Amino acid sequence: MRSTPVDLRAPSYHRDKIDLIFRPTIIDNVVTTPAAALIDRIRTRQANIGVIGLGYVGLPLAVEFAKAGFNVTGFDVDPGKPNQINAGVSYIPDVSSAELAAVVKAGKLRGTTDMSLLGSMDAIDICVPTPLRKTKDPDLSYVVKAVEAVAATLRRDQLVILESTTYPGTTDEVVQPRLEQRGLKADVDFLLAFSPERVDPGNAQFTTRSIPKVVGGVGPASTDAAALLYGAVVSSVVQVSSTRVAEMVKLLENTFRAVNIGLVNEIALMCHKMDLDVWEVIDAAKTKPFGFMPFYPGPGLGGHCIPIDPFYLSWKARQTGFECRFIELAGQVNGSMPEYVVSRIGDALNSVRKPINGSRVHLYGVAYKRDVNDVRESPALDLLELLVKRGAVVSYTDPHVPRLEQGGHVWTTVPFETAVSQPCDCAVVATDHTDFDYRRIAELALVVDTRNALKAFSRPSIFAL
Ligand SMILES: NC(=O)c1ccc[n+]([C@@H]2O[C@H](COP(=O)([O-])OP(=O)(O)OC[C@H]3O[C@@H](n4cnc5c(N)ncnc54)[C@H](O)[C@@H]3O)[C@@H](O)[C@H]2O)c1
Repeated sequence: MRSTPVDLRAPSYHRDKIDLIFRPTIIDNVVTTPAAALIDRIRTRQANIGVIGLGYVGLPLAVEFAKAGFNVTGFDVDPGKPNQINAGVSYIPDVSSAELAAVVKAGKLRGTTDMSLLGSMDAIDICVPTPLRKTKDPDLSYVVKAVEAVAATLRRDQLVILESTTYPGTTDEVVQPRLEQRGLKADVDFLLAFSPERVDPGNAQFTTRSIPKVVGGVGPASTDAAALLYGAVVSSVVQVSSTRVAEMVKLLENTFRAVNIGLVNEIALMCHKMDLDVWEVIDAAKTKPFGFMPFYPGPGLGGHCIPIDPFYLSWKARQTGFECRFIELAGQVNGSMPEYVVSRIGDALNSVRKPINGSRVHLYGVAYKRDVNDVRESPALDLLELLVKRGAVVSYTDPHVPRLEQGGHVWTTVPFETAVSQPCDCAVVATDHTDFDYRRIAELALVVDTRNALKAFSRPSIFAL
């Protein structure tokens, strides 16, 4: 029998408090603890941790577990990733090759494609992609495949945690039945929890270690075990009452961002019509010390989270007959921004009596946000495609993205020095990378600035969003 000595109403447990949550219970003179051997192995850092999916989320997490002293095995279907890990070479900007090589050399982290090794893991974190289908429905095929691999070797007292962002109900409706197929029961024979990943790539202030981790299990034993595990590697763990709450927490966070970005993009369009500088308006508004949080307009949403996650929520809500109006509206406004940027490029070219058709347009930055190499869902991809469709001759510079394929075209980055010296009809700041020399960009003949990166330079040749 398992004990459940945790007060689930308590809002959070910090690392030092986590040791209290597994106090043994004495029943009929027998001392019991939930999954006692697993708990002991986590506490003594002897637990073998498996991380499935070694991308932007999985690799930083695997490195944190390894740095905390656990024996970590990273699993990926793409053999290039385990190979690079084993060679101590990082492919994720937030993880340096030096820190990766240190844990690999110490024997604390290894990469593999061999899923049969999952059976020897004490705890398994699933960090695989959760994209949308073309129809904007959730595509859980990566999660299902990873879960089936775990199910094939699942054993008593293993802890399985899903981290991939998904709709409420995924863990208990999709993951749990697949894991229970061979007779073991969740929260009784093995432990199952959901814990959303909140990492913000490129953010040096908040990292995997310093961002509080929300944890919800299919039962109290699962919540406790997952909280204990994360307590070893993150500064603070917040327990919630179920996997569904934990799943919804992440979707609330990302829907909040998507809707607020949609609002500020609409305000930007409005300000343009009213001949107001939206950036000046936001800068002044954010001096209010309460009740306001600044969001910034831009060429559209990008990355594997904000453009996708809200549609996981609206899809699930629709199953219950509920229409998420805010999500759909924000999606429309944010989705229209690349078209609007192209119209601004048209305005800029028109001011010097040139059409888009046949003009040379050069994009500075194609990554979805500053200082990252991720182009998934990047609005720059839409810009490239829309400009090509209108007959522009398009090129780009992005030190983080050497090569790009979009709409059947292949581009390679032009070095910055070459780009600012070569003839160009219109430059576009699509991503405000730190290492661009904005003074040089501001000196170009015609620039459309979608990120307010040229705010220090006021010239008629610079067109703001
Ligand atoms: N990138 C972010 O900023 C971020 C932030 C928070 C949450 N998330 C969420 O985390 C999850 C992972 O995102 P990511 O950005 O790390 O994705 P990613 O594409 O960078 O990495 C996913 C990895 O999983 C591997 N993979 C796919 N199927 C597999 C399988 N069956 N078995 C083993 N490996 C498999 C892929 O080869 C890839 O290396 C998603 O649900 C995403 O929404 C991402």
